[in-house]
Amino acid sequence: VFVREMSGLTDMEIQLQEILGITKVVILPQDSDEIPAVKSHIGKEAARFLETLFARYKKIAVTGGSTMAAISKELTNGKPDKALQFIAARGGLGEDVLHQANTIAAAFAEKTGGSFKTLYLPDHLSAEAFAMMMKEPVIKEMMDLYDQTDVVVHGIGNAGEMAVRRHSSTEEVEKIHSGGAISEAFGYYFDKDGKIVYRIRTAGIQLEQVQKATTVLAVAGGESKARAILSYAKNAASPTVLITDEGAARKIMELT
Ligand code: BG6
Repeated sequence: VFVREMSGLTDMEIQLQEILGITKVVILPQDSDEIPAVKSHIGKEAARFLETLFARYKKIAVTGGSTMAAISKELTNGKPDKALQFIAARGGLGEDVLHQANTIAAAFAEKTGGSFKTLYLPDHLSAEAFAMMMKEPVIKEMMDLYDQTDVVVHGIGNAGEMAVRRHSSTEEVEKIHSGGAISEAFGYYFDKDGKIVYRIRTAGIQLEQVQKATTVLAVAGGESKARAILSYAKNAASPTVLITDEGAARKIMELT
């Protein structure tokens, strides 16, 4: 807190809250694009914030990503809580295992003494396979869990980068590109106005379910994510808390 006040970051937090139209913004000093340790600081801040929610909220959906992985490293099991349930927000298998939602859900559960629910489905199902999968009882069960989710914790990615990371097909890349996608979160791609441009065809949490959660915690930092954060924030309906860094914050201010 002291460092943030000294560097004028607390003022910037209030300004960003207004620009983005969200409930709360926390800015960590420096830029995670340049200094990798800053991502750990974001993780630590997010972990502390989440721990304050655990007493009241038990059903928590989590996405994948390296910033999410940074949170799992920082969670502590001061008070193991069996009632906590971490739900993988998507069935994605396209990414590096360590950064998949399934792995993150398991890691959060291990750290906190809670349980987890995973969903192993490929990232790119054909329309026929997708329709069939959605009828499966295990998938229906996941869908019900998404509906009961209290808190959603997720990263925000740059659309183009995420398409590459997920080994998207030329057809998908074309849709993402021609639609003007800027950001990506939980499998949805959004344009600069926050309009959905494309959605990965796999089972996962629906935007409406995210929007009706009691709290949404978004974690993303680095100057390179400024545009993505701006684009994503246009969707924030439920109380949203963003934990970011100075690199992203300064760039957002410059762009707006
Ligand atoms: C993905 C999440 O795994 O990671 C997305 O599903 C997010 O919600 C992305 O956009 C961000 O990743 P990172 O590594 O930049 O934190």
